Amino acid sequence: MKIKDLKFKKLITAGTIEERVTALAAQIDQDYKKKSPILLPILNGSFMFAADLMKHLILPCRVSFVKISSYAGTASTGQLKTLIGHDESLFNQDVLIIEDIVDTGLTLQKIMADLRSLGTKSVEAVSLLRKMPAREKKIDVKYIGFDLEHEFVVGYGMDYDGLGRNLKDIYKQLEN
Ligand code: IMP
Repeated sequence: MKIKDLKFKKLITAGTIEERVTALAAQIDQDYKKKSPILLPILNGSFMFAADLMKHLILPCRVSFVKISSYAGTASTGQLKTLIGHDESLFNQDVLIIEDIVDTGLTLQKIMADLRSLGTKSVEAVSLLRKMPAREKKIDVKYIGFDLEHEFVVGYGMDYDGLGRNLKDIYKQLEN
């Protein structure tokens, strides 16, 4: 499969994703029993994962989509913009951030610090994918779908230069 100048091959099928997302939702339901968290999906990449995860959650929950961006092309620029969105008050709320992928962890760490400074009751994160740098740095992600090495991936909401988000499976980049 080709997107612009890059070649990709299938890495995780839609069926495997569905199974894992269902299991994550069950675990979250269990952990947040008697609580009513506010889910904060980070746009754009997490929209598909967030929708599927929410369909499997039974607990009463709210959702507020937020946006931040630190990526251009296939490498992190390290430049962080601030969190925009969350019009709801997060004071004294149990917040669960929904991410597509944690790579260096810079994005997530910044968001978690920002949210904690707002007087939230708790702040945790669920990420569909986690890359090696975040694993090595022991970035604080409570729920993880799949661990990757350093692969650049697209599909299931994730993009290469804006393309590939609509693919239902996850693909990894092949060396040219
Ligand atoms: P971090 O700040 O380095 O952890 O970058 C996290 C963000 O970069 C994710 O939320 C994604 O939007 C984006 N990102 C990181 N790796 C990939 C990838 O392999 N494909 C698409 N987007 C990625």
